[in-house]
Amino acid sequence: MHIIESPEAMARWRSSVRGDIGFVPTMGALHEGHMSLVEASRTSHPCTVVSVFVNPTQFGPNEDFHKYPRPVEIDEAMCLSRGVDALYRPNVETMYPPGFQTFVEPGAMAARWCGASRPGHFRGVCSVVLKLLNQVSPQSIYLGEKDAQQLRVIRRMVSDLNVPVQVTGCPIAREKDGLAMSSRNRYLSPSQRIGADALFRGLIAAKDACHEGCRHAADLEAGFRNLLAREGGWECEYAAVVDDDSLEPINLVESKALFIVAARRGTTRLIDNMMISGPDSAPMAGD
Ligand code: PAJ
Repeated sequence: MHIIESPEAMARWRSSVRGDIGFVPTMGALHEGHMSLVEASRTSHPCTVVSVFVNPTQFGPNEDFHKYPRPVEIDEAMCLSRGVDALYRPNVETMYPPGFQTFVEPGAMAARWCGASRPGHFRGVCSVVLKLLNQVSPQSIYLGEKDAQQLRVIRRMVSDLNVPVQVTGCPIAREKDGLAMSSRNRYLSPSQRIGADALFRGLIAAKDACHEGCRHAADLEAGFRNLLAREGGWECEYAAVVDDDSLEPINLVESKALFIVAARRGTTRLIDNMMISGPDSAPMAGD
């Protein structure tokens, strides 16, 4: 496995590669969710590049940039054992050298949901992802459905800016109890971890209710909030039924919709989502 630590070294390595590259951008603290993206890339490309870069420009001033986990050696071993061809881990100074001043400004889709509570977050995400795409120049980029808004905002950027890359969204990898895997799960104390699957249970309850004919977004959202309130130890940030493409809120589920949620458990912010559908729509993948 090649270990590449600067944009210059990446440019040198990239010019020597023949054939397709699949690219998995991450912020490290790798888990099986990340590895499912690696697997997806490896099945379609002879060469898979994983980047590990904790990107300062997507964190707010009071967020966890400094305490974000950085288990460098464990991440490296995990990439090696899963057949990653190149691990790209540039440092902040080479990604944002003195004088850096150009950003990608995403549009309305980035302003709500996570964008509302994390101003500037998707501007930082889009900017770093475009930089990484320019450096790695892969045929495909693999992103998780876990970060539903991020996936759609990046798809939009790739389309709007004519970035020559194919975007593939991959299903959410979950722990046994349903909690979506996340690098931030390790912030949960053992007692907070118990019951952290309530987000998943709330999504399943909404999916079941919708399937049984409860199609009003307001009712589904209230049901989710009530479940978290009953469980205790949660502060719900948003729970919304939205259009799968545009992420605009919808009032009534006609056929399919995306249920997106964000909540805090203590100081840890967790997000999750699930497709839901009404009684007469065709079965969905995973049904
Ligand atoms: P990070 O949170 O490390 O996630 C990297 C990729 O892994 C994202 O595409 C994310 O959606 C995916 N992922 C995380 N948990 C997952 C899970 N449980 N199942 C499936 N996929 C999962 O997202 C970022 O980093 C950054 O914003 C980044 C895109 C790298 C830009 O800095």
